[in-house]
Amino acid sequence: MRTLISNIKKLVQVETQAERKDKVFGHDMDTLPCIENAFLIIDNGLIHSFGEMKNLPEESFDKTIDATGKMVLPTYIDSHTHLVHAASREDEFVMRIKGKSYAEVAAAGGGILNSAKKMASISEDELFDISIPKLEEAIKNGTGAIEIKSGYGLNTEAELKMLRVIRRLKELKRIPIKASFLAAHAYPLEFKENHQGYLDLIINEMLPKVADEGLADYTDAFCEQGFFSVEETDQVLEAGAKYGLVPKIHANQLHNSGGIQVGVKHNAISVDHLESLGEEEIKCLQNSDTLPVLLPGAAFFLAMNYQPARALIDANLPVVIASDYNPGSCPSSNMNFMMSLACTQLKMTPNEAINSVTINGAASLGMQKELGSICVGKKASLIITNEIPSLEYIPYHYAHDCIEKVLV
Ligand code: NIG
Ligand code: FE
Repeated sequence: MRTLISNIKKLVQVETQAERKDKVFGHDMDTLPCIENAFLIIDNGLIHSFGEMKNLPEESFDKTIDATGKMVLPTYIDSHTHLVHAASREDEFVMRIKGKSYAEVAAAGGGILNSAKKMASISEDELFDISIPKLEEAIKNGTGAIEIKSGYGLNTEAELKMLRVIRRLKELKRIPIKASFLAAHAYPLEFKENHQGYLDLIINEMLPKVADEGLADYTDAFCEQGFFSVEETDQVLEAGAKYGLVPKIHANQLHNSGGIQVGVKHNAISVDHLESLGEEEIKCLQNSDTLPVLLPGAAFFLAMNYQPARALIDANLPVVIASDYNPGSCPSSNMNFMMSLACTQLKMTPNEAINSVTINGAASLGMQKELGSICVGKKASLIITNEIPSLEYIPYHYAHDCIEKVLV
């Protein structure tokens, strides 16, 4: 099956095989290779060829899409979500509007523990059923690969239930999905005074089962004051590594938690959040292959300080933006909106924002060989926009949908 997309106003994020890169660093992120007035040929789901319209080969196609006035981009890669959850938490949203902090809401039995309560009483089938439209909505908004975490189970049965649902979502084969095991998200009440007891449960009971069923790609932990200390995070990551699980952790969201250092120590593929960051942490990232994943949607929704993207870019780091879609701190999976926040609040240019959610996003899930750019041989996972005046218009026209069609 051969499909032609013709008359593309701008084909965005193109790469030839020869100049193929794994990720884009620092100030290079402001460069985005594009072809004006382009064609793209898809052969059996893969990018077969592309170029300027004047070089379009004369042949017939099974299907032709005319993209006059429209742009084509690689789909967005959302490398940090809690898409599988049992219920929304707008009651806490109202508490925060009235002055309670995220930490205070959590301490009052809200937050992650509230989600865990709801997770306990939902069946696997029901959880799967309500997750499908969430996944479809993310795809509709341009997401072409996604990471999904457990972490609202907080006991063996419920953590496995979440991970099995993620596996069933994978099996739908809509888009590539990676799974993270996040039992170290919060201490359940019965282990409030017995942290080592819960860590032992994670390490000796949950992890062997997760590994046995092959349910996870990554180990995650919420390394934060009041949640998991550096030493506790260290234990979890070390145990995960024994089963071949790569660390990908929550770090420095509410405080300078030491999460970056412990993530880098364990060769994490990424450290995520980073609202609270100093020079020492930036140096630590510079001496590593660990990617900084920024989640501006969570800073927006919790009205917290935004992540210092400019300092990371000036330090020549390959910045990634993801959604953090979850019921507590970011009830949106819309990557277009995350890009708008990256531009307006993190002061990233539209080019930098697009690099951060395409090629760099792919790298933060180890998918850069198959996704993240328009390159011959990569998956034809594509966004076709509406007729728009410029590429910058996508983050500029915030909270609107500039997407006509998503091909995954
Ligand atoms: O990434 N920070 C920790 N975990 C999630 C939010 C969890 C929740 O409130 O449900 C996050 O923001
Ligand atoms: Fe998160």
